Amino acid sequence: MACGSGMVMSALFWSVTIVYLTHVGRVNGDCWLIEGEKGFVWLAICSQNQPPFEAIPQHINSTIVDLRLNENKIKSIHYSALSRFANLTYLNLTKNEISYIEDGAFSAQFNLQVLQMGFNKLRNLTEGILRGLGKLQYLYLQANLIETVTPNAFWECPNIENIDLSLNRIQQLDGSTFTSLTKLTTCELYTNPFNCSCELLGFVKWLSVFPNRTNERMVCDSPPGVSGYSLLSQNPNNPTYRNALHMLTTVCTDDYVTPFISISIESTTIPPDSTLCGMDECPSGTEPDDITVSTTENEVQGKLKMELKEITKAGATITIPDS
Ligand SMILES: *[C@@H]1O[C@H](CO)[C@@H](O)[C@H](O)[C@H]1NC(C)=O
Ligand SMILES: *[C@@H]1O[C@H](CO)[C@@H](O)[C@H](O)[C@H]1NC(C)=O
Ligand SMILES: *[C@@H]1O[C@H](CO)[C@@H](O)[C@H](O)[C@H]1NC(C)=O
Ligand SMILES: *[C@@H]1O[C@H](CO)[C@@H](O)[C@H](O)[C@H]1NC(C)=O
Ligand SMILES: *[C@@H]1O[C@H](CO)[C@@H](O)[C@H](O)[C@H]1NC(C)=O
Ligand SMILES: *[C@@H]1O[C@H](CO)[C@@H](O)[C@H](O)[C@H]1NC(C)=O
Repeated sequence: MACGSGMVMSALFWSVTIVYLTHVGRVNGDCWLIEGEKGFVWLAICSQNQPPFEAIPQHINSTIVDLRLNENKIKSIHYSALSRFANLTYLNLTKNEISYIEDGAFSAQFNLQVLQMGFNKLRNLTEGILRGLGKLQYLYLQANLIETVTPNAFWECPNIENIDLSLNRIQQLDGSTFTSLTKLTTCELYTNPFNCSCELLGFVKWLSVFPNRTNERMVCDSPPGVSGYSLLSQNPNNPTYRNALHMLTTVCTDDYVTPFISISIESTTIPPDSTLCGMDECPSGTEPDDITVSTTENEVQGKLKMELKEITKAGATITIPDS
């Protein structure tokens, strides 16, 4: 889906470019520069440079609208290297080695609409990285090493329509991460190692009502007992079968969104006479009943039985017996 819109974008882009190409294209330093209407340099193609750029090149005219630096070896992005480019609208940094972005690095790019940073080495996505990108519509961050997306990461980007965070290392996402993005139509998150603990429930609930959700390859990686579960039901006729939304809504309550699921594969059988929680530790209104997530499909292991082992003020422990 993200690729589809990318192609539409670039088709649109080239039809515009062909008009401008009547002006002279010339090589400046190592980049191809193409001038727009009033002699302003409008497009710079610095892709796959030999030798590759290791930083944002400084010889490019500040009038640039479209800057292609894809397939170089840029390692970090600093405010001082970008601040001149106030008209920058499209920035392609795909397939570099970016592992560090200074807080506010893009804050002079208030016209930026498309930021392509897929196939880099970013480890986290914070509000600081996206600061000031008030016109940003398309954000491509697929195939990085992103583990953390802070809940406020998108606060300064209310116009985002399309986010690609697929093929990263995201285990947890806060339920509020995307809720302020009223224009969001596509949000790709497939192939991330989701940790389906109760902390993820808020996000899974958001996803379940997001109109353009993608279901495929949205799978729990941990805890071990639910590894391989889809985040959402794959079969509307059997909405309870092996999916995180059903499992988490069954075992988590709104009061207990703190870390709490720890599923041990080694069967920890509860002694028959053990009370499930002490008098003071049982949350009022919650009966510490065994929770059985049964599946009507014929699974090899038969029913998956989850036992609520312990509930404390801080959370609860669920076990899945072996047999
Ligand atoms: C773009 O920058 C180069 C120097 O890097 C300069 O020679 C050229 O005149 C500039 N073009 C415009 C249109 O400003
Ligand atoms: C941005 O473009 C406008 C014309 O559209 C121009 O007047 C202005 O100087 C440009 N800004 C920069 C930083 O080049
Ligand atoms: C951005 O860079 C990627 C990787 O090189 C390339 O496939 C894509 O076509 C580029 N897109 C644009 C709009 O420059
Ligand atoms: C993001 O990662 C960088 C280094 O990779 C680290 O210095 C910074 O503290 C991290 N920020 C957050 C919010 O995790
Ligand atoms: C779903 O995404 C497509 C493009 O990817 C878009 O045209 C459509 O409007 C979106 N639908 C909703 C309800 O956001
Ligand atoms: C998953 O999240 C829970 C709760 O935050 C945590 O205790 C556990 O260590 C996490 N598992 C992995 C594999 O990170």
